[in-house]
Amino acid sequence: NWILEEQIMYTSRPGDPGIDRKYEEALIEAETHMGQVHPARVAGEEIHARETFTVWSPIGKTLKTGVFQQCGMAETEAAILAANETYDDWSHTPWETRCAFIDEAADRLEEEYYHLAALITLECAKTRNESLAEVGEAVALLRYHSTVIRDNDGFLRSMPADTETDRYESVMRPFGAWAVISPFNFPLVLGAGAAAAALITGNTVIMKPASATPLSMLTFCRILEDVGIPTGAANCITGSGLAFGKAVSQSPGIAGLTFTGSRDAGTWLRQEFTTHQPYPKPVILELGSKNPCIVTAQADLKKAVEGVIRGAFGFSGQKCSATSRVYIEQPIFHTFVEMLTDQAARCTFGDPRQKGIFMGPLIDSAAKERFDAAVASVSAAGGYILLGGRSFYGTETQGAYFAEPTIVTGIPHDHPVMKNELFVPLVALATFTGIEEGIRLANDTEFGLTAGIFSEKPEEVEEFFSHIRFGVCYANRKDGATTGGWPEYQSFGGWKGSGSTGRGVGGPYYLLSYMREQAQTRLA
Ligand code: ALA
Repeated sequence: NWILEEQIMYTSRPGDPGIDRKYEEALIEAETHMGQVHPARVAGEEIHARETFTVWSPIGKTLKTGVFQQCGMAETEAAILAANETYDDWSHTPWETRCAFIDEAADRLEEEYYHLAALITLECAKTRNESLAEVGEAVALLRYHSTVIRDNDGFLRSMPADTETDRYESVMRPFGAWAVISPFNFPLVLGAGAAAAALITGNTVIMKPASATPLSMLTFCRILEDVGIPTGAANCITGSGLAFGKAVSQSPGIAGLTFTGSRDAGTWLRQEFTTHQPYPKPVILELGSKNPCIVTAQADLKKAVEGVIRGAFGFSGQKCSATSRVYIEQPIFHTFVEMLTDQAARCTFGDPRQKGIFMGPLIDSAAKERFDAAVASVSAAGGYILLGGRSFYGTETQGAYFAEPTIVTGIPHDHPVMKNELFVPLVALATFTGIEEGIRLANDTEFGLTAGIFSEKPEEVEEFFSHIRFGVCYANRKDGATTGGWPEYQSFGGWKGSGSTGRGVGGPYYLLSYMREQAQTRLA
């Protein structure tokens, strides 16, 4: 039972003996504040819209996340105005000061570590392990942003000069008011990381978290205000993604945007934004994927099994980095399948607040329907359900939608389950012969976020890194075959249909996407 034993290992704060008690206390405290009315935040003020919307926690219909503002054009325009009014002040704040603000925000995230982890669990039903890890990732990402700015001396560079009195410089400057649209599955780090990147480089921000999970980002916005970032530099709007997307697309006051979420929504937004803006403006898209893992005959199968289980079923497969296709070399297929199904059947699922739970409920009924449809389509195509396949309502957690860890095989390479991102705990297996074929099958997709290989043979690993067309590539990673990227260790960004810039979050080049170069020439 080796996988379950390690499931209770925390990746975020090893060595803190009080971790469970502190998390549980924070959970009780946070639960007593659930269901409240939350204003949006514009220029440090609490904003109420004409309409509100109620969010129920995916943990169960008895747990109300809160009541939030259904912001429309008026509220979004107010936020864009505030962000533009503060821009001159903030963009001229010395970069050392901006770094100090973001470092202080990271300190505040650390102080509120358990509170934030509890909020993440409550609003998106992420397990305690992964919720704690997410706060750790946010802290690490904010700190890394300021390290990158410092390492590059604020991105100011002297160029060669012809005479002693002439001065030539390259200076990286911000763009203006930046919109940050973030998804439900990493409700803190994916919004906070992008917003902090925009801010630290001198832009001002309007944040818009997913309507299913606005709590973490409203809290982050409050933290930014608390550390003293000028009023209006950080704003947080809540409500429908469609309304916000239309409002920012039509506003000439938006200088750029970062969208993290599904490929369909991101493609629509880019189109809408490009159509309505008077000239080209930067659009950073971090989209979905269909991530492959290759297991060769030279693999350590125990490592591979653990890596695939964590990659495919961690947070019930609701990650853009989730492992969703596994290509297994023919001779080891049956052994691997036996080991994989045996271990995956032991994945604990239930209330994500409980210790030792590996999989919580899905985010909503649409996810359950996607899961059911995918399972049905596998059977219809003559494929095999090797494990799982059922979804159900929780009994203790009333109204929560669960899906079993599901392993399928025997479907054609061009079947929708092999091609489309599903965001549910379903992984498809197929075979290959020879590493070249494994890589070819892995690459045959419109996506390109994360990919993994398990092989103890260095030549195969090098062949993989040399030919794989994905942005985040892992060899022999049992902590998650394709998941779990960490700032500074892995720059996290997609190729092809998975991302627009080719510069990963938490990597050395990410911040460049939030700045434009200015050549300054001073002649005597
Ligand atoms: N860092 C997260 C992952 O790699 C997004 O899954």
